[in-house]
Amino acid sequence: MILIKALLFAVPIYIANASGTLSASIPIIKKWKQPIDFGVEINGKRLLGDGKTFRGLILGTLTGTTIGYILFSNVNSDISIVSSLNDQELLLLSFLLSFGALIGDITKSLAKRRLNIKRGKPWVPFDQIDFIIGGILFGSIAYFPGWMISITLILLTPLLHFLSNVIAYKLGLKNVWW
Ligand code: CTP
Ligand code: MG
Repeated sequence: MILIKALLFAVPIYIANASGTLSASIPIIKKWKQPIDFGVEINGKRLLGDGKTFRGLILGTLTGTTIGYILFSNVNSDISIVSSLNDQELLLLSFLLSFGALIGDITKSLAKRRLNIKRGKPWVPFDQIDFIIGGILFGSIAYFPGWMISITLILLTPLLHFLSNVIAYKLGLKNVWW
């Protein structure tokens, strides 16, 4: 049960993260490539890099907030840990979880560039957990899900990430299975 409750709570986080990435493949939207760091470099290295765009930040936040809010306001207390929150609080929580997920991802890129890790190069396990930590942290401004759920999500997310990659590979959406 804790698994279901944790996953449900994290839906806006996962949707926001996935939409940020998908924004690079959506017709018309994908043409807007304005990087959040405006191309600024420090010591010859980009602040964030071309992989962090306003397109991803805005689309991810909007999609995660909308789907999260609709979901949270329609799921009962059997599986939702936030059913006691009112509509306004649920909207704020969905926004914070979504925006926080993308800020977590952006913060990780900031660290990668300082450590001289090129855009797109893996940085395990931070590429897998940046968004879940960011989402929980920002979300806590409105609602903290407790340590059990937080730790469950941080441990479970890399596994889900890996499984979804394998599925995407089998479906031919990705060229490599990791
Ligand atoms: N993306 C975006 N805007 C964001 C986040 C992601 O446009 N705020 C898109 C980019 O096209 C990016 C892709 O999603 O290349 C995959 O995201 P991610 O793996 O987080 O970025 P990387 O390109 O791997 O860059 P980094 O090394 O900084 O993680
Ligand atoms: Mg990456």
